Amino acid sequence: MAKLQWLSLTCILFFSASADVQSKVTDNPADQLVVVLNNNRTANKLSSLYNNPGLACLALQYIKAYQGNCDEVGGPDAKKPADSEIAETFAPDCGVLVSSLAPFTGRLLGCQSKYVKPPEAFSELLIKNSKSLEILYNKNHTEVGAAVSGSDGGAPYFWCILFSDGKTNHSFSLEDGVAKVTRPGCFSGANDDCSSAHLRRRSNYFWACAVGIWVILGFVFGL
Ligand SMILES: *[C@@H]1O[C@H](CO)[C@@H](O)[C@H](O)[C@H]1NC(C)=O
Ligand SMILES: *[C@@H]1O[C@H](CO)[C@@H](O)[C@H](O)[C@H]1NC(C)=O
Ligand SMILES: *[C@@H]1O[C@H](CO)[C@@H](O)[C@H](O)[C@H]1NC(C)=O
Repeated sequence: MAKLQWLSLTCILFFSASADVQSKVTDNPADQLVVVLNNNRTANKLSSLYNNPGLACLALQYIKAYQGNCDEVGGPDAKKPADSEIAETFAPDCGVLVSSLAPFTGRLLGCQSKYVKPPEAFSELLIKNSKSLEILYNKNHTEVGAAVSGSDGGAPYFWCILFSDGKTNHSFSLEDGVAKVTRPGCFSGANDDCSSAHLRRRSNYFWACAVGIWVILGFVFGL
């Protein structure tokens, strides 16, 4: 058992060392996106928006509704989840109280096959025309939630930002005080460490590493 712990530790050290290269706000690209967004708003003399975990969890469910179909985001075949789905499916999946849902005042969605860092996702993917700038600079927003996900832990990568004018302390409230974390994907506001590793099947590499070392140990020590 001690050996199992030792090899897990080796793998954890190896993988946290490689994840460390990424910047740390919290180690979560959705939170980093909210920081970029709020910095941009305050530089334009607009209020900083409350990073609401319930709203952000809905943003992740919103992404999942596309089932990995990038071409249904924008363009001629653009689709968007029905509003009824939000109350009936997304909210319960997140543990958000349906009675606390507030209207969305804006949504920004982007998808591409290449993973980019949050600042690039913001400026190159999400805010790319005057319409999206108008959404970003709307004075009615009070809160925001962001999410990023690959379809099944890999490409294509979807980014979603939802805005609301809800009252920050009683909208998108969570049944148990915490949003239900559903992988793959990361959402903002929950103090949830979710490095982009979670978007790229790194956990599979982790197990491959652990099993690999286990097998080698087996050969060397005849375990
Ligand atoms: C805010 O974002 C927009 C869109 O990416 C960009 O054109 C603008 O330069 C940014 N402003 C600041 C102050 O970063
Ligand atoms: C802000 O909210 C007011 C009142 O609901 C509405 O009339 C107005 O169109 C909204 N502004 C924007 C930019 O959405
Ligand atoms: C919600 O916030 C408002 C304004 O910040 C405050 O007056 C009110 O007491 C708060 N309500 C709760 C339930 O915390």
